[in-house]
Amino acid sequence: MENDIHSAAVAGRALVFGGSGQIGEPLLAQLLAAGWAVTAVSRQAHVDTPGVHWVQADLYGFWRDGQAFDAVISCGPLDNFVRWYAGSDIRSPRVVAFGSTSAEVKQDSAEPAERDVARRLREAEQLLFATAAERGVAATVLRPTLIYGAGRDKTLTSIARMAKRTRLLVLPSCAKGLRQPVHVQDLAKAVLQVLPAAVSHGQAYAVGGGEVLPYNQMVRRVLATLQPRPLLLRVPTPLFVWALRKAHGKGRLLGMNEAVLERMRDPLAFDIEPARRDFGYAPRAFQVQEGMFVGAGENVDEALPEH
Ligand SMILES: NC(=O)c1ccc[n+]([C@@H]2O[C@H](COP(=O)([O-])OP(=O)(O)OC[C@H]3O[C@@H](n4cnc5c(N)ncnc54)[C@H](OP(=O)(O)O)[C@@H]3O)[C@@H](O)[C@H]2O)c1
Repeated sequence: MENDIHSAAVAGRALVFGGSGQIGEPLLAQLLAAGWAVTAVSRQAHVDTPGVHWVQADLYGFWRDGQAFDAVISCGPLDNFVRWYAGSDIRSPRVVAFGSTSAEVKQDSAEPAERDVARRLREAEQLLFATAAERGVAATVLRPTLIYGAGRDKTLTSIARMAKRTRLLVLPSCAKGLRQPVHVQDLAKAVLQVLPAAVSHGQAYAVGGGEVLPYNQMVRRVLATLQPRPLLLRVPTPLFVWALRKAHGKGRLLGMNEAVLERMRDPLAFDIEPARRDFGYAPRAFQVQEGMFVGAGENVDEALPEH
């Protein structure tokens, strides 16, 4: 059932990839509130709701569709989205896609896999801008920093879950690198702000949070949302590295590699002034509250933080 999709009263018709994701969910809600009619693509089956028509499809496949939309928005993996976009015959004058600040952060990583992520992100951005320019389409890329707010992220939520399970979180003393966590609602709002901004055409913007703080303080605030509150133990970095190698020897904590450790001391703060200036981006400070990362009584898992 294509609810309201063809209504003349809609603000516009958007095709959204990643609408089931942590940015995508609030984005669908904000688009609907602003009067957009949404066609959302997911690999899973979803039930249509007023204003949202779901299409079950995979970006890996060749889902071709000659339909016309006012905007195509990607909150899914950028490289897959761009490959699909370049091969599709979709008609839309506007494309907004999420990439990642990892395109910069990981390009000089000690880990080949991380350098590969950065390369794929940069190549995807280039292909998106080139394809859009060929077609006379206005494209914008939004590069978020570390995302939080949906309780589904692989960094702060993973840290909270691990700490809740063990009642203890151990950090190396070097974990003081600056961080700029950004709330998923602010990223969703950024899409609505950037859509009409002609100055943003052909541009990529860092979209970080409204507060920059050291890694250990960010983690301390996350732990303060948990009941009972886990202990944060800071140990000398060489001792942490020694313990980590021991754990690796036993096949544990393999996701916590030297590159992740190295990044804990790196300043990962980005200039959000261009986004403020060009489309009024105004993210909140790092606001956390009880239940935001791990709800009371929620089962916790063994996932490792990614940043
Ligand atoms: N998480 C972070 O800290 C972070 C930081 C910087 C940038 N980013 C970027 O921000 C964007 C959104 O991130 P997120 O954390 O909100 O993502 P997410 O929660 O992991 O959701 C990803 C979405 O992409 C869709 N998707 C994945 N593979 C697909 C495929 N092959 N075909 C169709 N759809 C596919 C998924 O839809 P279905 O499962 O329903 O198919 C899901 O809705 C991504 O580009 C990500 O790289 C994330």
